[in-house]
Amino acid sequence: MPNLLFKNITLMISDMMDQVGLDDTQHGKRVAFMATQCARYVSFEHFDQVDIFTAALLHDIGVSCSQEHELLVTILDWEKAQTHCLDGAVRMKSLPFYAPYADAIYYHHTHWQTLADEQQVSQDSKSLANLIFLVDRVDALLFQYLQQNPDDEAIHARNTIQQNIQSLPGYFAPELVEAFLKASAVDAFWFQLDAAHIPRYMNSQTLDRSIELSPQDVEAVAFILAAAIDAKSPFTAEHSTLVGELAYFLAQQFGLPDSRCQQLKLAGYLHDIGKLHIPDSILEKEGPLTEKETIAMRRHGFEARDILQQVEHFSEIADWACHHHEFLDGSGYPYQLTAEQIPTETRILTIADIFQALAQKRPYRDSMTQQQVISVLDKLGAEGKVDTIILELVHQHANACWQLANGISAQSPIKSDAIQAK
Ligand SMILES: [Fe+2]
Ligand SMILES: [Fe+2]
Ligand SMILES: [Fe+2]
Repeated sequence: MPNLLFKNITLMISDMMDQVGLDDTQHGKRVAFMATQCARYVSFEHFDQVDIFTAALLHDIGVSCSQEHELLVTILDWEKAQTHCLDGAVRMKSLPFYAPYADAIYYHHTHWQTLADEQQVSQDSKSLANLIFLVDRVDALLFQYLQQNPDDEAIHARNTIQQNIQSLPGYFAPELVEAFLKASAVDAFWFQLDAAHIPRYMNSQTLDRSIELSPQDVEAVAFILAAAIDAKSPFTAEHSTLVGELAYFLAQQFGLPDSRCQQLKLAGYLHDIGKLHIPDSILEKEGPLTEKETIAMRRHGFEARDILQQVEHFSEIADWACHHHEFLDGSGYPYQLTAEQIPTETRILTIADIFQALAQKRPYRDSMTQQQVISVLDKLGAEGKVDTIILELVHQHANACWQLANGISAQSPIKSDAIQAK
């Protein structure tokens, strides 16, 4: 796969994070816009506009649960806010091109009166963290205002929000409050925040970083995103990462070229990206789902394609991810594809997904044993729903599949086989 651009991946992550907001999407994008506007009145030593924009756009990368997102936009100072700051900073730190923003993300809910005295943090990171905190709270206040005044537009909230921000002593650096008052004095600041205008603003950003991400970088990003997807519910812990490993292994056993195997691993990591848009209450429901809840659940493959296909060179990964719940007999979803429309890669991903999910506990059932998992898959094969040639590989490598699906083997079974053979 060719190298991908920093811009592609950054915007894809932003779209993925928008999913968590359920009814309140574009939070990160509005925060990025406002931070960039305010930053014009603040001097930073090292950070430029692209740094401000990127860090602000991704500031909530530590949030996976819809309930957590709701609390963050409805409560001014939520006591558990620090959890997502820490998770976000850890995720940023693991990616070299985002690591410079880790401190700003870690401190983006810390009051200035505490942050100002922090010795270990650079002045730039402190200012950026506090700027993100300020505009993040502006967005929370705006959300609340528009909920209470559904016929109003963002600009009607200007005076209320400006007064509110000035009345929070110790929260924000005085020069940042000044910068916000200057930036928000312009009507266009508020017009730009409308849902229709934010996407155009995003498109207008060059995000000119001339950083090309290598395949290893892209895998590292996908791994972090998989962790974010899996963190949405304790029941899905490690599901995406393990599906990625298992799909990779099966693709190798099938004899696909290494580049396809690698791409399939990414599809495994990202296949449930659309689940971020499903309310936690549905994902964790113990009883049967209502029709409405079932439809919400069945959208997630479709949502995955929407997010992934905008990344250049990701179109096949987007297709495979989108189709991981399709069945060969046409009884799957969301496109009700039939056998001739479903390529090998999707067939592998479907089996890896079912295998891992069955091996894992769910709110409505216990985890299954290796034998039970294989007999469920065999039944699906006999019904003409999943590919029996791939199932044959599962039978041949049942123990290796089981270990991969359970994250037991830290080492690839292929490597350990090779070591044993020596
Ligand atoms: Fe936050
Ligand atoms: Fe799924
Ligand atoms: Fe899945």
